[in-house]
Amino acid sequence: MNMHNRFVRWVAMPLAAAAALATATLVTAREPFTKEEIKAMDEKLTASAKRGYDMWYGARADMSSNGLACANCHPDGAATNPQTFPKYMPQTDKVMAFRDMVNWCIENPQVGKALDASSPDMVALESYSYYLHRGVPIDTGLQTRQTAGPTPKNARGLAVKGTGIGFDK
Ligand code: HEC
Repeated sequence: MNMHNRFVRWVAMPLAAAAALATATLVTAREPFTKEEIKAMDEKLTASAKRGYDMWYGARADMSSNGLACANCHPDGAATNPQTFPKYMPQTDKVMAFRDMVNWCIENPQVGKALDASSPDMVALESYSYYLHRGVPIDTGLQTRQTAGPTPKNARGLAVKGTGIGFDK
């Protein structure tokens, strides 16, 4: 073994391994969040859910050409079951993510323009529905929990009047 190989074997390789470990530790180790950090994070999430709430109750023109809003058929997030996705949907003969089903309702019952799946608007609708289903056990693939299909009430959106839970007032 020449000097170069010896160097690689005994010095360079352990150094490289140690460096990789140090980097990994730096990336993964995290002090618990401070109270201030948690408050700031909660505020961001709540703002997203509030935006979703407004979109849910108001019939936004691009999302609805017939004046129907989500809340006309899913008042207070009813029968949206975010905890059951992904699951097979007979409407499309596909296993669908929650956001795909949101777009299905925008394009079909609301005859509107689908949202970009990763847009802040889609995340806002998700934030609202998921917020209202906090604590419900996740049961991915469950066909549905609804006992009755959503019943549309024709209207141009709804007066923004929520459940009174958390921000939803
Ligand atoms: C005119 C009534 C109507 C409107 C308006 C409507 N939906 Fe729906 N929604 C339905 C029907 C009907 C289904 C299918 C129910 C089924 O498959 O059993 C459904 C299903 C869903 C599901 C899947 C629920 C499940 O458990 O399978 C989601 C999520 C959903 N809607 C979200 C929305 C969102 C978000 C909006 C607003 C952007 C919206 N819907 C607007 C009627 C409506």
